[in-house]
Amino acid sequence: MTIIFTKIPINDDTLQLCSKSLLNNQLICIPTDTVYGLAGVATSDEAVKKIFAIKNRPTYNPLIAHFYDVDHIGEYCHLNDTEKKICDIFMPGPLSLILDKKPNSNLSKLCSNNNTQAVRIPNHHKTLSLIKMCNKPLVAPSANISNGLTTTSPWQIEESFKNNPIDEQIYILDDNETKLGIESCVIKVIDNKINILRHGSFNTNDFLQHGFEITTNYGVEENNILSPGMLSKHYSPNAKLRLNATNIIDGDHALLAFGDIHFHIPNHIKVKNLSPNGIISEASHNLFNFLWELDKNNIKQIAVMPIPNYGVGIAINDRLYRACAI
Ligand code: TXA
Ligand code: MG
Repeated sequence: MTIIFTKIPINDDTLQLCSKSLLNNQLICIPTDTVYGLAGVATSDEAVKKIFAIKNRPTYNPLIAHFYDVDHIGEYCHLNDTEKKICDIFMPGPLSLILDKKPNSNLSKLCSNNNTQAVRIPNHHKTLSLIKMCNKPLVAPSANISNGLTTTSPWQIEESFKNNPIDEQIYILDDNETKLGIESCVIKVIDNKINILRHGSFNTNDFLQHGFEITTNYGVEENNILSPGMLSKHYSPNAKLRLNATNIIDGDHALLAFGDIHFHIPNHIKVKNLSPNGIISEASHNLFNFLWELDKNNIKQIAVMPIPNYGVGIAINDRLYRACAI
């Protein structure tokens, strides 16, 4: 018994087929602007339970619900003026906002955290059409086993869930590589200030430029865990990562480079350059793709060159550090 994935192209017929399956409590892998998601209807306990089981995800780690527009979010969650302004400026886009649920919201309790719900509107028009066809929000964590590498291409989803003993048939809506390649920035508004719980393609400067006040605590505030997923080891390849490498040492088998390389590379080292010209958004697009490729080659240790800590580089460094956490 195993999960059988079937890759299908995205067109009107397949979107219809997938919306019917979703409304029937089945799961579908969907592309978004950031990464692939393992989606189910957010109001269905049955679908949400399946997501947790297939990912082997701890039940304390809540899920992001995906909506087609801000009014759709407003049907399920409360939005104050600051939150509305954030939605108007940054959505659709790579941002998840943690909101209070409305008391009569029928979102599955299993995907929320203390009556809060993470919401987002992905900037991907075909996936937005699918949500509209379902006329229900879709919860979708990244389409990978818990703690493993995030998936940004359909083949990686099959690889991530291979050997999974659960008996399921799941369609993957195939849209090749996702554009941004790194998960959404997760934020919560507290006392009118934006609290960044997970960095993504948006960062502090994007919010400051629009006049918002910021606090950054990466999800932990005086023993109060704001975002359970941010604590543990995460995003890990099978290979060991050696960060901030400025040379190659014994034990390295590959180099994950960024920009110009000014040191000697022995012949046996496999080199993948995240962005030869030092463009940080290109590096985020390539990050998980290259880690997946190196893992497929059974590389044991990867030397990773320093990645500049600005823009989406902050999110890249965050993912690399968590990948190395014990
Ligand atoms: O780009 C993305 O966000 C992708 C695509 C598929 O949309 N999804 C994604 O989901 O990365 P996931 O489950 O891998 O990460 C969601 C993160 C976790 O760190 C989780 O703890 C946090 O968001 N989160 C979700 N709901 C929350 C809530 N109600 N309160 C606090 N943190 C929450
Ligand atoms: Mg994830």
